[in-house]
Amino acid sequence: MNDEERWTDVCGEGDLPVGQGMEVVVGDAIVALFHDEAGWHALSGICPHHGGPLGKGSLKGCVVTCPWHGWQFDVRDGTYQHSDQLKHPTFATRVSDGRVAVRLT
Ligand code: FES
Repeated sequence: MNDEERWTDVCGEGDLPVGQGMEVVVGDAIVALFHDEAGWHALSGICPHHGGPLGKGSLKGCVVTCPWHGWQFDVRDGTYQHSDQLKHPTFATRVSDGRVAVRLT
């Protein structure tokens, strides 16, 4: 697989307003995609607490709050807000020709 084939188109730039997130499926993975003032961010969509849907969490600034029990993560690097020892997996994003793509590996 070449580098270009690792990217998966997930949505258009206009599909997700700044300050919101959504779930997308990339290969076999559920990915939480967020759009903040700085750009686009992707992390594993499965909350490490009890599997809640992080892509359906609320985004304030660069922090998402899991809708199930309120765990919070920095969407830029996956840092858990109550312990920087826990990092939730993040994925690369890019915008090209108005389309947003995610790369898992
Ligand atoms: S499942 Fe996310 S905080 Fe509990």
